[in-house]
Amino acid sequence: MNTTIRRAGDGDARAVAELLIRARRAATAIPTAVHSDPEVHQWVATVVLAEREVWLLEDGGAPLAVLVLDGGWVDQLYVAPGRTGGGLGSRLIEHAKSRRPDGLQLWTFATNTGAQRFYLRHGFTVAERTDGSGNEEKAPDVRFVWAGGIIPQE
Ligand SMILES: CC(C)(COP(=O)(O)OP(=O)(O)OC[C@H]1O[C@@H](n2cnc3c(N)ncnc32)[C@H](O)[C@@H]1OP(=O)(O)O)[C@@H](O)C(=O)NCCC(=O)NCCS
Repeated sequence: MNTTIRRAGDGDARAVAELLIRARRAATAIPTAVHSDPEVHQWVATVVLAEREVWLLEDGGAPLAVLVLDGGWVDQLYVAPGRTGGGLGSRLIEHAKSRRPDGLQLWTFATNTGAQRFYLRHGFTVAERTDGSGNEEKAPDVRFVWAGGIIPQE
């Protein structure tokens, strides 16, 4: 496997949206998305790529995982179905830390215990738990914080 991480641009809108949709659909621990596929495509093109920092992890040009940073937040982190558990998410979260050495925050659904183990292992701690009334899915979620600090070179 010859994987690379690169910044995504406008020409990646379709690939990013398809990866987010496929990965979200396959993730049984995450509540069903409230937006339709066309809405996700539109949002990726007009909001995500236009206003946020998007990174693609690829193998031979095939997108395997996507990271979206929005200020100090990990807005999205998704690994392609069938490729989870192989260290790709770890590479992207370490990349996120290298981009934001002063710290990061993120939300994860309370039901997504696999992702919570992942973030705890990467030095994040639980900052807040909610009943979900503040998110679109109305599903309880957990805010994780990484306080920043020295990280190993990539
Ligand atoms: C969570 C996720 C980003 C981790 O990336 P990864 O490449 O699978 O993880 P790594 O191989 O680097 O690390 C393995 C750990 O990731 C977590 N993990 C692995 N597969 C997972 C999955 N399908 N769903 C949730 N967490 C998973 C587990 O904590 C695992 O550790 P374990 O072996 O002790 O259970 C990735 O699994 C994923 O995209 N999952 C589906 C969508 C998701 O939950 N995104 C995060 C939203 S906040």
